[in-house]
Amino acid sequence: MEYRLIATCAFGIEKLLSNELKALGYDDLFVENGKVEFTGDEMDIAICNIHLRTAERVLIKLAEFKAETFEELFQGTKAVDFGALIPISGKMHVTGKSVKSKLFSVPDCQSIVKKAVIESMKKTYDREQFAETGAVYKIEIGLLKDLATLTLDTSGEGLHRRGYREHSGKAPLKETLAAALVILSGYDGTRPLVDPFCGSGTILIEAAMIAKNQAPNIERKFVCETWPGFPKDVFEQVREGARSQIKDLKQSITGYDLDTYVLSTAKMNAKKAGVFQHIYFLPSDYHKLRFTEKNLTIITNPPYGERLGEVETVHGLMEKMGRDKAIHEDYDMYVLSALEGFEKAFGKKAHKNRKLYNGRIMTYLYQYFAEQKKEG
Ligand SMILES: C[S@@+](CC[C@H](N)C(=O)[O-])C[C@H]1O[C@@H](n2cnc3c(N)ncnc32)[C@H](O)[C@@H]1O
Repeated sequence: MEYRLIATCAFGIEKLLSNELKALGYDDLFVENGKVEFTGDEMDIAICNIHLRTAERVLIKLAEFKAETFEELFQGTKAVDFGALIPISGKMHVTGKSVKSKLFSVPDCQSIVKKAVIESMKKTYDREQFAETGAVYKIEIGLLKDLATLTLDTSGEGLHRRGYREHSGKAPLKETLAAALVILSGYDGTRPLVDPFCGSGTILIEAAMIAKNQAPNIERKFVCETWPGFPKDVFEQVREGARSQIKDLKQSITGYDLDTYVLSTAKMNAKKAGVFQHIYFLPSDYHKLRFTEKNLTIITNPPYGERLGEVETVHGLMEKMGRDKAIHEDYDMYVLSALEGFEKAFGKKAHKNRKLYNGRIMTYLYQYFAEQKKEG
């Protein structure tokens, strides 16, 4: 069956997500704030959930209509044939959000939508009540400037939950953002890679998966796989196809961190992700690190210095990064930081920078290119 699908993502990385979709062969893309819309069937739902690195979720768009009153919301929802999607035992979980809309009470909108879904189900199943003991169907009502969008979530847990990170450090980067940093750096496994503040290893694990062409979500399960009406074999087919596309990785990847406990979690995560053999995790204080390799790519998320007394320490670390870049003109450096006065501490203006949200924290990806790439 053909659906309108929506892949959601963090604000600011829509272009990366649409590039990923283009690379997977989708071309009818409609890009909006925090999402990309396109057309696809059950196979495409499996492909997108398993392959997309920067998407948060894959949703089926059920309806879009104007709703300035509860009655409009009720009628617009009831008009959707929910019985064609949800079995008689389905557990209907409604979530909601409202931005700049007359219907601003989210709990009220959710309960109206739930009532309307039940009314629609009654038309198919000819009964008054539903036990809701079966598979979960998460329906979201989103209101933006009085335009209601009803969607059904196919992913379940957010797609950043690849399944490899049971353990993390104090300020782990979301896997989807780590993947976005690696994609933005253009890293493809042909140069050695280092993260000197690697924490639980997220950037390096995502980088190794990208370089190996290993789909990020091969191993995890998705909620739509539990739906009785969803074809059982498509996910296995896509997983098998994805496994057959995995390449070897020749260049070295190294992660350093001061904290030996966090390094042990990084090792466990890399093992679970199937990339342990490609990454060295070594304890080191950045001040003591001396780089000897040529043509290194450094992608890192150093401490931001949020707590009192830490700012000075972080300034010292960024000064050393700047000195390292000055010594090694052939290095590419990508540093995600929320530190005020970052470029001053580093001692050089970035060739490029880009605003990115790390959860709620506004950060910048400061990009310092190898000398020969400066013009590009
Ligand atoms: C923001 S966290 C990195 C999180 C990482 N990207 C992840 O996903 O887990 C910063 C890391 O820098 C490490 N760190 C702090 N000071 C350091 C130093 N002087 N040398 C090396 N690592 C340091 C911390 O132990 C912490 O793990």
